[in-house]
Amino acid sequence: MNFKELANSRRAVNFFDPDKDVPESLLKDMIEMAAKTPSSFNLQPWSLMVLRNSEEKMKLRKLAWDQPKVSEAPVTLIVLADRDAWKKGHPFVERNFKEMVSAGSMTEGQHQWFLDACAGLYGANSEKQQAFACKNTGFFAMSLMFAAKSLGLDTHPMDGFDHEGVRKAFNIPENYWIPILLSVGYFKQDKTLMPPKWRKTVEEIVVKF
Ligand SMILES: Cc1cc2nc3c(=O)[nH]c(=O)nc-3n(C[C@H](O)[C@H](O)[C@H](O)COP(=O)(O)O)c2cc1C
Repeated sequence: MNFKELANSRRAVNFFDPDKDVPESLLKDMIEMAAKTPSSFNLQPWSLMVLRNSEEKMKLRKLAWDQPKVSEAPVTLIVLADRDAWKKGHPFVERNFKEMVSAGSMTEGQHQWFLDACAGLYGANSEKQQAFACKNTGFFAMSLMFAAKSLGLDTHPMDGFDHEGVRKAFNIPENYWIPILLSVGYFKQDKTLMPPKWRKTVEEIVVKF
């Protein structure tokens, strides 16, 4: 499938076949493909909670407007955006710096410069921290959807949920924002998929000020 076909065939699928599981290896492939997503300074501020267990999915569904797909899909992901993933001492920030030094794109002496650059760009206030985490994780989430489709899987992104309720119910630390929930599985073939939705035209997208 080329990218045009992929973009045209991905849909937010409302009905999942509850009897068709997503093998662990396929889910791993999907996440590995999405892990190629670019991020600012390569900080990759995303994480996933993988829900397969019926009880856990029902717990989430009750906090997500009782949307049936949350529990009918074999897998529902809680997509997490780490608002702290630019800070000194954060394991992936420090790992990132070490990797850049190993790759030769930074020197040991640039450690403080790197930390200051991250803090200056992303840490000035809570709005910037939120934007940093959600912007990058949004790209990651889109990659997950396209990766899934390329592997023959269907997805449904959702932000219809009680953010604080989900955070508390699943013991998610305060530094994470939850940009979306993402159900993953196979479209239930006896259901009818709605016709493709309208999209803005190129002329409507391109603006001048
Ligand atoms: C961030 C985000 C949140 C969404 N939240 C919901 C949701 O809570 N419930 C729902 O039924 N659809 C939700 N959708 C699906 C959109 O309505 C859908 O993607 C859009 O109408 C376009 O349809 P398509 O994905 O089939 O092309 C969400 C989509 C995105 C990207």
